Amino acid sequence: MRSILLTGGNGYIGTHTCVSFLKKNYKIIVLDSNVNSSPISLKRVKEIFKLRKNSQENIIFEKGDIRNEIFLRNVFINAIKRNSPIKAVVHFAGLKSVKDSVIDPLSYWDSNLFGALCLLKVMNKYKCKTIVFSSSAAIYGKNIKNPIEEISLIKPISPYGDTKVAVEKILENLFLSDTKHEWRIANLRYFNPIGAHHTGLIGENPYDVPSNIFPYICGVAIGKYKKLNIFGNDWPTKDGTGVRDYIHVMDLADSHLSAMEFLLNNEPQIINLNIGTGIGTSVLELVKIFEKVNNCIIPFDFYDRRLGDVAQLIANNKNAIYKLNWKPKKSLEDMCRDGWKWKKLNPNGY
Ligand code: NAD
Ligand code: WQD
Repeated sequence: MRSILLTGGNGYIGTHTCVSFLKKNYKIIVLDSNVNSSPISLKRVKEIFKLRKNSQENIIFEKGDIRNEIFLRNVFINAIKRNSPIKAVVHFAGLKSVKDSVIDPLSYWDSNLFGALCLLKVMNKYKCKTIVFSSSAAIYGKNIKNPIEEISLIKPISPYGDTKVAVEKILENLFLSDTKHEWRIANLRYFNPIGAHHTGLIGENPYDVPSNIFPYICGVAIGKYKKLNIFGNDWPTKDGTGVRDYIHVMDLADSHLSAMEFLLNNEPQIINLNIGTGIGTSVLELVKIFEKVNNCIIPFDFYDRRLGDVAQLIANNKNAIYKLNWKPKKSLEDMCRDGWKWKKLNPNGY
């Protein structure tokens, strides 16, 4: 049986995607440098499957950096030696803070662009030509017209978004240059993933003060932060606060499995897909639902608008639903309940 390689598989979205693939009996290899994650996350994944801790049954862990080509080659060689060559890659590994990317763009280009280049060169060498890439709604920037379609204007407003556009471009170049028509590529453009696996065993584990709203709300709920600062109440939205398309991380995880199976079962192609629910929720609505389902109070104050924010970002997800035999199943209530369960059980992360 061949394996699927998940780069960055120890991270927030990666661990949940491990669950999706293992549920369908795939053999997976998780590659991670743990620069922003803990290897304990994989033990938790195994707990979900009631495997013995440290069991190597369906998951192999390879610790290292995607920018190290020798290490990467060894990951492919080791898989061949185990009689389980890598058939396809889900590429999560990279840095994801919009704010940090403005402060330190070189690190972002190095991890996200140079990392992707190293990976693609090694994939090419070992004739592994199927990839699902973690792209982002950040590539759309200040798009005024919502819901956003895949063909909407691509105009990122941060170095982080720029790196995602650049990798998509490299993948397009690669596909167009491929005279043998072997490359199969899916760029999944995630909107706002939140929540956690319903067991509360795995979840988001930010090392710094979170800049994203959901882990911050959880931090307020657990008493780590006094109150939520809501960035602006004068946006042109239903209640003046920012509107986003929040998607349950398990629905997002499942979209990778569906995209991979779609690629493997169809003609070689390159596809760009928005992965969201198509539903816009304001900050105030999110706070209210969190309070209701978790029976708690989230104190908040209105604060100035955050630099670089936009009023609304909502996905037109019709292409993903149509192509992938996938659709988001979980509600905002599920996202708030599951995310809070993870935080309550793991107040300090893994
Ligand atoms: P994360 O930080 O939790 O996971 C990324 C993982 O990659 C971490 O485990 C980290 O240790 C690893 N990593 C980073 N650089 C590496 C390198 N050079 N070599 C090997 N491992 C490395 O982030 P996440 O939220 O799980 O995001 C996964 C992917 O999805 C990222 O590419 C991110 O840009 C993209 N994305 C995330 C969101 C979001 O809101 N979480 C939205 C859109 C896109
Ligand atoms: C959501 C809403 C804020 C924090 C970011 C990246 C994007 C993608 C997902 C990687 C906005 C408001 C937030 C707070 C607040 N990541 N907010 N108080 O900015 O939509 O997207 O994460 O690819 O690229 O840009 O998500 O969670 O930061 O903000 O009022 O303390 O919550 O203004 O309206 P965002 P977010």
